[in-house]
Amino acid sequence: MSSPVTFVRNQWYVAAYGREVTSEVLGRTVCGEAIALFRTGSGTVAALADRCVHRRFPLSAAPSQVVGDTVVCGYHGFTYDGTGTCVAVPGQSRVPRTARVTAYPVVEQDSFVWVFIGDPALADATRIPRAPWLADEAWTTVSGMEPLAARWGLLVDNLLDLSHETYLHGGYIGTPEVAETPITTEVDEEARIVRVSRHMADAACPPFYANSTGITGRITRWQDIEYFPPCLYTLHSRVAPVGVLPPAEGPDDGAFHVEVVYAITPSTATSTYDFWAVARDFARDDEEVSRFLHDSNRTVVLQDVTALDLLETVVAAEPAGTQELSINIDTGALAARRMIAAMTAGMTAATDAAVDATAGAAAGAAVR
Ligand code: FES
Ligand SMILES: [Fe+2]
Repeated sequence: MSSPVTFVRNQWYVAAYGREVTSEVLGRTVCGEAIALFRTGSGTVAALADRCVHRRFPLSAAPSQVVGDTVVCGYHGFTYDGTGTCVAVPGQSRVPRTARVTAYPVVEQDSFVWVFIGDPALADATRIPRAPWLADEAWTTVSGMEPLAARWGLLVDNLLDLSHETYLHGGYIGTPEVAETPITTEVDEEARIVRVSRHMADAACPPFYANSTGITGRITRWQDIEYFPPCLYTLHSRVAPVGVLPPAEGPDDGAFHVEVVYAITPSTATSTYDFWAVARDFARDDEEVSRFLHDSNRTVVLQDVTALDLLETVVAAEPAGTQELSINIDTGALAARRMIAAMTAGMTAATDAAVDATAGAAAGAAVR
C-alpha cells in the first residue's frame, strides 16, 4: 500500500480563523491531535486537548460550555481554565493534583489562530510566518476554509505547481499562458522558504481578474510564490495592462495586487484543512467585487478539493514505491517536498539526539 503520511512536529499550524473561535467550543484535529478551541471571557484564545481527564468526554462536544474564563465538561462538570488546569470537580472541594489537560501554545495573528504541535518548550512565536495583509486595513480580504479528504502533501504539490490552473481552473483563473510560461525556483534553506515565480509578459486576462479589476485587454501577469513549510503559502499576484511594469522607484500604482494566502493544515493522515484567503489593494470598498472574488476563489478551491480527494483514493490504493514522472513544472513542488523531508528528518534526529542524550546520562550515572 502507499507510503505512510508523516506530520512535521515542533511547528506552528493554523487551527482556525480568529472569527471562528468564540464562546462556543470549536473542535479541530491538527496533525492527529484533537484540540478544543475557545475564547475566554477575557477575550484570549485557549487551545486544550479535546479529552476530559475524567472519562474522556470531548470538551468541544455539547453540552460542554464556556463559563467565564473556563470550559465546563458536558459530562460531569470538570472545569478547566485556559492553561488546562482543572479548577473544579463535582461533589468534592479538593481537585486532584493530576487533574489537567494539555494546553497548546496558541497565538492569534494575521486573522489566524496558530497552535504549536510538538514540545511546547520549543514554541517560539517569532517563528510563525506572516501574512500581514489579512489583518491590514489597507487591504480587503475574503476568505474561507474547505476540508479535504486527502493527505496534506497533495495540497502542497497542488499549490506549488500553478500550471494546473490552465486545465483544472480554465474559465476562472487559468489561461494557456500559465502552463506555457516556465518557472524559476529558489530555495532559501536558512529562512526555510521555497520561492517559485512565473512572470507572464503578455497573457489573456482570466475572468477572476477581468471582472474584479475591470481590465479588458491582455495583461502582464506575475505570480510569485513564497511557501513557508509546512503550513503557510503565499502567492503575490501582480496584474497590469500588458507592458505596464513596476517603476524603478515609488509605488506600483499602475498594477493591481492580490495576495493569495493558503494555510495547509494536516488534520489526520488523509484529511486536511484548506484555509484560503484573497486580499486585494483595489476596489476595496466594492462589495460586489468582494462577493465575486469570494465565490470565484471558493469555486476554484472546490475544483482542487474534488481533484485532490480523487487523487487520495488513487494514492491510497497504489503499491508502495509506485513512481511518478516529474518535469520542469514540478521543480517548486519537488523543492518543497525535499525541505519537508529535511524538516521531518531533523525532527527525528532531534528526537534521536534526545534519546541518545538520555542514554548517555543514564550510562554516566551508572559509571558514577
Ligand atoms: S468526562 Fe468530563 S467530567 Fe466526566
Ligand atoms: Fe488549484
